[in-house]
Amino acid sequence: MKNFWQKLEKPILALAPMEEVTDTVFRQIVASCCPPDVFFTEFTNVEGLLSKGKNVVSQRLQFTSKERPIIAQIWGLNPESYYKAARYIKDLGFDGIDINMGCPEKKVVKTGSCSALMNNRDLAVKIIKATREGAGGLPMSVKTRIGFAKIETDNWISFLLQQELDGLIIHGRTVKEASDVPAQWDEIGKAVILRNKISPATIIIGNGDVLTYNQARQYWQKYKVDGVMIGRGVFKNPWVFDKNKTSVTPLELIDLFIKHITLFENTWGDSKNFSIMKKFYKMYINGFEGAGELRNKLNQFNNPADSTTFLRRYATLIGPTPLGVGV
Ligand SMILES: Cc1cc2nc3c(=O)[nH]c(=O)nc-3n(C[C@H](O)[C@H](O)[C@H](O)COP(=O)(O)O)c2cc1C
Repeated sequence: MKNFWQKLEKPILALAPMEEVTDTVFRQIVASCCPPDVFFTEFTNVEGLLSKGKNVVSQRLQFTSKERPIIAQIWGLNPESYYKAARYIKDLGFDGIDINMGCPEKKVVKTGSCSALMNNRDLAVKIIKATREGAGGLPMSVKTRIGFAKIETDNWISFLLQQELDGLIIHGRTVKEASDVPAQWDEIGKAVILRNKISPATIIIGNGDVLTYNQARQYWQKYKVDGVMIGRGVFKNPWVFDKNKTSVTPLELIDLFIKHITLFENTWGDSKNFSIMKKFYKMYINGFEGAGELRNKLNQFNNPADSTTFLRRYATLIGPTPLGVGV
């Protein structure tokens, strides 16, 4: 039987998992502009899901029907915890599970999880196996990079392709490179050739530095991936998954920001700190004269009501000039 990955039309366009960004609220906002073909949660710690603090951790797994198909991304160390977390995720109604084997954060790598698993393949295999057992048939993927200290596409990606994964999401940088060099899509292209030999049924999604819809299509054609994942491109243009949207006006962005703040308030109330919204100022208020000044003024407000009142008042003053976002 085909899994959901195989049923999607190509190119498959995915919204990247982004910590403290792609919660249910942000995903709904992106979906309201134009939904991607697949959504991912922020990475969610499996040990945390089984701990006393699980109520806070499981906020990461909240989703609505507007964000489907949705994949829960998990990370951690203990295979048994992966097993239990996968069962829990299956019961929550997710469409798939993704294991993070790419996060380069030093404090995470130090624990031996995420990208550190590239250097501990026995544990990586145990984690995949335990997750598969717990997932009860849900499609499974891994999101990773092309190597740890150096490029190891041949070795590492071939290893993953031997694990019978339904999907493999490849960010075209090594762990050491963090975000400091351009993504190496040629390596992603090599991974596709390996996939064709080792595991033809595994869907490959390429990731890194894709900023527009047309660029995603070009990379799909050039590198023969099944799809493309977009992360930071959505900050530049929240309509990035819409092939027909060629420009965005400052007013549209401010309206969307007001919608985002309102949904944040309605969804999280006091359970999440409003200061999280400040990281979105640059996304919504950018690219027009006076944008910096407006962001500074907005920074004075620390609650949804004052921020939206200020933005609404401001919105009446700005003109309709479109911003070129590229498609
Ligand atoms: C703010 C932020 C948070 C991120 N959090 C995660 C995460 O939780 N899990 C993950 O696999 N990757 C995470 N990433 C990496 C992205 O998913 C993606 O691989 C990376 O940004 C490269 O894609 P892009 O150039 O399209 O942004 C994060 C990236 C950013 C910018």
